[in-house]
Amino acid sequence: ALPQKVRLVEMSPRDGLQNEPGPVIATDIKTGLIDRLAGCGLTHIESASFVSPKWVPQMGDAAEVMAGIQRKPGVCYSALTPNLKGFENALAAGVNEVAVFAAASESFSQKNINCSIADSLERFVPVIEQARANGMPVRGYVSTVLGCPYEGDIAPEQVAEVARDLYQMGCHEISLGDTIGVGTPLKAKRMIDAVARHVPVEHLAAHFHDTYGQALANLYAVLEQGVAVIDASVAGLGGCPYAKGASGNVATEDVLYLLQGLGIETGVDLDKLVATGNWICGQLNRHNGSKVGQALGGK
Ligand code: HMG
Ligand code: MG
Repeated sequence: ALPQKVRLVEMSPRDGLQNEPGPVIATDIKTGLIDRLAGCGLTHIESASFVSPKWVPQMGDAAEVMAGIQRKPGVCYSALTPNLKGFENALAAGVNEVAVFAAASESFSQKNINCSIADSLERFVPVIEQARANGMPVRGYVSTVLGCPYEGDIAPEQVAEVARDLYQMGCHEISLGDTIGVGTPLKAKRMIDAVARHVPVEHLAAHFHDTYGQALANLYAVLEQGVAVIDASVAGLGGCPYAKGASGNVATEDVLYLLQGLGIETGVDLDKLVATGNWICGQLNRHNGSKVGQALGGK
C-alpha cells in the first residue's frame, strides 16, 4: 500500500551544488536557495558538507552557509560529515543533523572517500558516538545501491549488509542512493526487499538519481513497498564528482507532482518550489532539469 504521507529531504544545496562546475558558487546564493526551500514548506534540507575542500571545493564555505541562513523553526538543516573533523566543524556551525556516507561498492568507496567500506564504517563509529553525545541524529547513506560506475551490478545483499551495519551503529535513517541512476523498478524493489529484511522500512529513504530517466518509476515502485522518505533536488540539480555521467537527483518538483497525483501529503507548496527551481537555475545560468519546473515555470 502507498504511504499517506511522505517526507521530502531536499538535497539541492549539498548534492545539487557539490559538483557544479566553474567557480565556487557565492555563499549568498547558497543561503538564498536554502531559505527559499524552507519557505516552500520543506522541513529537511541538506544544507552543506563538512568534507575536505580539496576534494569538494564547492562545499568549502559550509560554515559560512550555516551562519548565513535564516533558520526557520521546525526545519532540520543537515550536513555531511565523513569524519570527526567534519563532525566537529558541523557541531560548531549549528547543524541539526549529520550524515555519514558509505558505499555498497568497494571501488566507489575508494574513489569517493579514499578508503575501504570496512574502514569507512570504523571511521564513522566515533562520529556517531559524538553525535549521540550531543543529542544529534545521524543519517547514514549507502551509495551505488543499484549499480556502480566501476563495478557494474551490485548484489542486493551487499547493499543490505552495509545498510544493516549503519543502522546497528546508530543511524536513525538509511538513505539508499542510486548514485548513477541506472536502476529500474524491479531492481529497486529487489534491493528494498533485501534491505528491509535487516532495517525496518520506516527507517529507509530512497535517494534516486535520474540519469536514465527511471527515477520516478523507481520511486513509485518503492513507495508501494512502504518507503515514505524521499531525497530529491530542486530543478534536478546535481551529479556526483566520483560518478562520471551521473545526472542530478530526481527533481523535487517532479516528485511532488507525482505525490500530489497519488493523494500523498508532503506539506510542500508546488508553485513556490517551481519558482525556487527557476530562481536557482537563473542564478547558476543552468538548464532546469525538472519537467514540472519547465511546464509550470514559464521558461
Ligand atoms: P583523505 O585525503 O583520505 O583524508 O580524505 P586525510 O585525513 O588524509 O585528509 C586530507 C586533507 O583533508 C587534510 O588536509 C585534512 O585536514 C583535510 P591537509 O593536511 O592536506 O591540509 N580534511 C578535512 N578538511 C575539512 N573537513 C574535513 C576534513 N577531513 C580531512 N572533514 C576524506 C578523506 C573523507 C576527508 C575525503 O575523501 C573527502 O572529503 N571526501 C568527500 C567526498 C564527498 O564529499 N563526496 C560527495 C558526497 S557522497 C555523495 O554525493 C553520494 C550521496 O549523495 C548518495 C548517493 O548519491 O549515492 C550521499
Ligand atoms: Mg546523491
